[in-house]
Amino acid sequence: MSQKIDTVVFPVAGMGTRFLPATKAVPKEMLPVVDKPLIQWAVEEAAAAGCTRFVFVTSPEKGAIMSHFGDAPHYQEMLEARGKTRELALLKAGLPKNAEIFETYQDAPLGLGHAIWCAREATGDKPFAVILPDDMVQHQTGCLAQMAAHYETVGGNLVAVENVPSEETYRYGVLNPGAETDDLVEVKGLVEKPAPEDAPSTLAIIGRYILDAKIMDTLSAFKKGAGGEIQITDAMAELIGHVPMHGFRFAGTRYDCGNRDGFLEANLAFALAQGGDELKQRLRQLLD
Ligand code: UTP
Repeated sequence: MSQKIDTVVFPVAGMGTRFLPATKAVPKEMLPVVDKPLIQWAVEEAAAAGCTRFVFVTSPEKGAIMSHFGDAPHYQEMLEARGKTRELALLKAGLPKNAEIFETYQDAPLGLGHAIWCAREATGDKPFAVILPDDMVQHQTGCLAQMAAHYETVGGNLVAVENVPSEETYRYGVLNPGAETDDLVEVKGLVEKPAPEDAPSTLAIIGRYILDAKIMDTLSAFKKGAGGEIQITDAMAELIGHVPMHGFRFAGTRYDCGNRDGFLEANLAFALAQGGDELKQRLRQLLD
């Protein structure tokens, strides 16, 4: 029924207004969690899930993102001359050897659905993954790899979901859930950014998707939804009944790095997971 997911789209053309002034000159996706920018964590998660085609939907103002994945001859020569092999390896920025890179511009930030539509030439007629780099999931198996394993059986549109506090539903696409088996929830309907009293559940979509290629036709109608933006949630809702649609309860902890507190929490969580005993002790002292 379904196919291997080799293409991943990174919509990175947003304004990052929730994180000003940090995002005035530095793209949100270039903010580092511990020692790597958010976009590199996202690329590594996709590579670990088996993706080899990486599509960046970016904007002319956010050139730093593509520079991060390009060659850096000045650095390379200097590090080679100094024999710094460990640092040379770090210049590769997490891309697998066989990676194909595509860059496309979203002329204006018209919404996530529109950003995904901008990737249509690279995604073609196969299902593809989408990662929003500002949502990080901490787990030994990456969130996208977990989803890809389930996609084999369900196909269609698959989204990562988790329960959020009822007063926060207005920030998410929210599921009207149907039957549930193991970690998969059938989706009967979707509402983008509902007020708590209008939300069909508290099961919210986070920044990981595997989408049927048909989504591009639906998006090409450019229908505006919540906030006047072209929403991916609305396009997925339109496809319910035409292609299977499931939510996937992923394993791991999600951090919303698009705002200050979530970003700081992610830095602490990843630092604690990676750092040595000395760092852990100093962090605990700070908390005390
Ligand atoms: P957000 O909803 O976090 O929006 O986008 P944003 O513009 O980045 O940030 P705020 O809300 O103004 O603070 C989630 C992801 O979708 C991308 C963003 O770059 C981010 O990776 N995006 C969003 C686009 O590429 N284009 C858009 O029109 C909107």
